[in-house]
Amino acid sequence: MTGGAGGIGGATTRRLAAEGATVVVNDCDEARLAAVVADVAGAGGSAVPVPGDIRLSPTITTLADTAAAQADGRIDVLVNNVGDYRPNGRFLRTTEEDWASLHALNFEHVLRCTRAIAPAMVDRGSGSIVNVSTVEASRGIPANAVYSAYNAAVEAFTRSLAVELGGDGVRVNAIAPDLADTLQTPADTMLRGRDPALLRSWVPLGRFGHPEDYADVVLFLASDLSRFVTGHVIPVDGGTRAASGWYRRADGRGWTNLPDQP
Ligand SMILES: NC(=O)c1ccc[n+]([C@@H]2O[C@H](COP(=O)([O-])OP(=O)(O)OC[C@H]3O[C@@H](n4cnc5c(N)ncnc54)[C@H](O)[C@@H]3O)[C@@H](O)[C@H]2O)c1
Repeated sequence: MTGGAGGIGGATTRRLAAEGATVVVNDCDEARLAAVVADVAGAGGSAVPVPGDIRLSPTITTLADTAAAQADGRIDVLVNNVGDYRPNGRFLRTTEEDWASLHALNFEHVLRCTRAIAPAMVDRGSGSIVNVSTVEASRGIPANAVYSAYNAAVEAFTRSLAVELGGDGVRVNAIAPDLADTLQTPADTMLRGRDPALLRSWVPLGRFGHPEDYADVVLFLASDLSRFVTGHVIPVDGGTRAASGWYRRADGRGWTNLPDQP
């Protein structure tokens, strides 16, 4: 589990541990990591911390070795969760350093962690890999073109690897979140200066997502409940992608796709 101490990752660590998994959990924020490991232990579960930056090879090696050293050495699930939309901004003002940073944070570690951990799954003939993408991979988002592109790469990798590893008993899927109330995108910040009642205009389900909303879908993809599902990306977005441009009118009288319509 990468980035498993923060918002979606933290909820997923707790959820998987509550289901009885020993969660080998990486995060670069050591205090946050210690807190989630203590929470899991306090709830009677088991989590093993792997502090460090997942962009760095030694962290990936330690993550894979630590997972392989647990119990009978069986690694059932890999969750590639780390990602961030920053640095963002209008594409024509971005630099090659910005692109390299977004590549490292959103895509490269997904390849590297998968390369490090999937062989043990293939050898055993079973496993589930769950990648965390974003709805922005499948719709246009201004000022985030590079983030969007690297997450589209995560989704393309998910599909192709699923086809490649299906015969080895390894499933590969992804979730595509939107509007999660997390450290990265706190609802308070997104709502600052806005009428919270208008959430029902922007989001068909009328609220931000709680980290647990995403963790439950990761659990589904990680578990045998989804044993015949591979190569798919499940949007976990309260309906925003389905609405794609349609909004409930602020006065509650119907819907509009015209931004200047009252
Ligand atoms: N928040 C949203 O609305 C949203 C929307 C779409 C996609 N996502 C995706 O969901 C995933 C999780 O996002 P979140 O909102 O839960 O984020 P978050 O900021 O709440 O948590 C991220 C966690 O990852 C850790 N982390 C960051 N960089 C790391 C690194 N290099 N190495 C190891 N750990 C690192 C952080 O310390 C933190 O604990 C990301 O891939 C993000 O792109 C989130």
